[in-house]
Amino acid sequence: MKKTVSESRIEQVYQVRPEHLNGAGRLFGGKLMEWIDELAGLVALRHAQKDVITASVDNLKFIRGAYQKDLIVLIGRVTYVGRTSMEIRVDTYIEDMKGIRKPINRAYLTLVAVDAEGNPVEVPGLLIETEAEKAEWEAGIRRREMRKQRKEEGF
Ligand SMILES: CC(C)(COP(=O)(O)OP(=O)(O)OC[C@H]1O[C@@H](n2cnc3c(N)ncnc32)[C@H](O)[C@@H]1OP(=O)(O)O)[C@@H](O)C(=O)NCCC(=O)NCCS
Repeated sequence: MKKTVSESRIEQVYQVRPEHLNGAGRLFGGKLMEWIDELAGLVALRHAQKDVITASVDNLKFIRGAYQKDLIVLIGRVTYVGRTSMEIRVDTYIEDMKGIRKPINRAYLTLVAVDAEGNPVEVPGLLIETEAEKAEWEAGIRRREMRKQRKEEGF
């Protein structure tokens, strides 16, 4: 049975602490990548209700830095599903004390549902409810084609 985007959407908040900083006193990019991968995995797990693995991560762009005490908000949602794979978009923001959010990163990850032997298994379809979700789905088809092409070219 198909599932909606909102059924698996997750919003997670972290505060940047000293152990998250790199030598330049900013949030370490690898830590943010871990948070993004973890969140995407949870969204995919909720959608598929099966074990999932990360097949690819696209378009990690660090638009601005984050510093100690900043609040980091990550929002993850399913944008496209194939037979066994799910595309998850994760948007990351810095939120100030007034609740104003500034984007710092947007990533698209592909997660694949697997059985106990690690073989890909089918996932539920996606029930599109809004125009924005429809636009994301259509863009997801194009991104999937680009990924296939890159895979063929060994990129
Ligand atoms: C992901 C993995 C299972 C795909 O294996 P595969 O032999 O290509 O399997 P399939 O051809 O059946 O593809 C399964 C799905 O993955 C998708 N896929 C495969 N490689 C992909 C890639 N590089 N990027 C995006 N999607 C990919 C396919 O499009 C397919 O999706 P669909 O069922 O929705 O059409 C395999 O590459 C793997 O196990 N990788 C290691 C993943 C891992 O361990 N991640 C943890 C982080 S290290």
